[in-house]
Amino acid sequence: MPSILITGTNRGIGLELVRQYLDEGWEVYATARKLQHATELQQLAEFYPTLHSYKLDVTHHEQRLALASQLKGIPLDILINNAGVYGQDDAFFGHTDEEKWLEALRINTIAPMKIMELFANNIALGEKKIIASMSSKMGSMDDNGSGGSYVYRSTKAALNAVMVSAAHDLKSSGISVVILHPGWVRTDMGGPNGEINVQQSAERLRSILASVTIENSGDFYDIDGSIIPW
Ligand SMILES: NC(=O)c1ccc[n+]([C@@H]2O[C@H](COP(=O)([O-])OP(=O)(O)OC[C@H]3O[C@@H](n4cnc5c(N)ncnc54)[C@H](OP(=O)(O)O)[C@@H]3O)[C@@H](O)[C@H]2O)c1
Repeated sequence: MPSILITGTNRGIGLELVRQYLDEGWEVYATARKLQHATELQQLAEFYPTLHSYKLDVTHHEQRLALASQLKGIPLDILINNAGVYGQDDAFFGHTDEEKWLEALRINTIAPMKIMELFANNIALGEKKIIASMSSKMGSMDDNGSGGSYVYRSTKAALNAVMVSAAHDLKSSGISVVILHPGWVRTDMGGPNGEINVQQSAERLRSILASVTIENSGDFYDIDGSIIPW
């Protein structure tokens, strides 16, 4: 049975990815920072014995270490760094907030790196050997036609840089490292005007991940499977 570890799974795209991978018969290791309030995840656990849920604030090093020790030696086919924040809604020129920016950097950029470092051994034991991070087109310089959003754009651009380095460093271990844009999705973050719903986003993300090989390592995927320029 293939297996996957996904962060930030109590709501939004993360929760829907959990649902769909469970439906497809995967063993799912799902994390949430407030596990006691993750009602929908708990409901899924009642129906799927293949769902294992854990408390994880992705910025909390002791919690990351504890999870790595709990999962030590377990093969994982895919890791998805999904947890993320917009960081500062009103990060326009002249109004950026340093503390909010640093917190977003911890969640969007540093945490995915620390999690990759801790779980690369599990991925190396898996068959598919894929590490993915949920980035955003807003982290692309090429796509930045409107400015603003300094906190979100810069922390996702930095995540892309982290992932490209990891793609180089992990290639000799046979691990593919890819970057995903989930589309503009109707979630708490994407808002009600998003172009697609979580079901559509998760379906397309799963289809992209199903086709990833080591030749694609370092690629930045749009939700339609095309490559996003940096
Ligand atoms: N929605 C879009 O249109 C869109 C577009 C491009 C990229 N993305 C990216 O896709 C990913 C998922 O987005 P979404 O739309 O599903 O967002 P969402 O509905 O706002 O959900 C964000 C998830 O991340 C979790 N999270 C935030 N900080 C965390 C932390 N420190 N530790 C653990 N979990 C944490 C949240 O948990 P809590 O409930 O505890 O806060 C929640 O589960 C994000 O990385 C986002 O940047 C989304």
